Amino acid sequence: MTIEIQKLGEAAGAEVLGLDMFQPWDAKTRGIVYQAFLDNLVLVFRDQVLTPPEFMAFSRNFGGLQPHVAKNYRHPEAEDIVMMTNVDKQGKFDEVGANRGVGWHSDLSYDQVPANGTLLHAVELPDRGGDTWFCNMYQAYETMPAALKRRITGKMALFRYGGRNGQSTEHLRPEDKAKPDVIHPVVRLHPETGRPAVYVNPYHTVRIIGMTRAESDALLDEVFTWCDQAVFQWHHAWRLGDTIIWENRSSVHSGKLDYPLDQRRIFMRATVRGTNTLAEARLPAVEPDLAA
Ligand code: SIN
Repeated sequence: MTIEIQKLGEAAGAEVLGLDMFQPWDAKTRGIVYQAFLDNLVLVFRDQVLTPPEFMAFSRNFGGLQPHVAKNYRHPEAEDIVMMTNVDKQGKFDEVGANRGVGWHSDLSYDQVPANGTLLHAVELPDRGGDTWFCNMYQAYETMPAALKRRITGKMALFRYGGRNGQSTEHLRPEDKAKPDVIHPVVRLHPETGRPAVYVNPYHTVRIIGMTRAESDALLDEVFTWCDQAVFQWHHAWRLGDTIIWENRSSVHSGKLDYPLDQRRIFMRATVRGTNTLAEARLPAVEPDLAA
């Protein structure tokens, strides 16, 4: 069967048809699927239910995996899988778990080597709501007003888990909460496509380097308001048997707590290891336009 890529949204999203997820990939398959991943930012694979080992094997087609800092949520038999779950070990509603991933972010951007991609496989789903939302950060940068672009291009920022407000850090172990901040560009030049994308995100960015906290907060708020526009967004409505992968270098994503909270929402999640952003090519700082 031939593989077909069917576009789902304007800003992001494509479904991969005709791919048997249980079979190893040859070079041609990898070429088609990986290019679709770079082009569409989110890929959807439907109607194939995976066990944890099958999910890990499939995820490794995109690169080496990187365990998540949320050690309390790691899968008991597969350390490369972290569970995204709203159910605790007693089977009760887990509020902390339900809130993880709610708010725009790029995965592992609190790490100097953030993730290239993230995969989710649906295990249990509510009967409505709980979609995963995506924002195309290439488009957000390309269409940004020139004056705002100039203020962020070439700048670097500090990142840590929970960002400016330390949100959603309750579940972290003390040693992980105390990890030093890391540095990434505010606008990242994608190491594979060469395209610039806004890389700061409200969940993990602390402040822009070279500014006071107040100046940085004001600028970040402006950038986040610009990026949070429907025209850059697409959302995935989940069905059992779905697996998705998203591009963390050119998009941010967020879960939604808009489903009935007495219903279970559980996913297996794996992250594909990326590169140290400090070793990547960078955009030069842009001089202010004195005439403007
Ligand atoms: C995540 O951020 O990994 C999960 C997003 C979601 O819960 O939909």
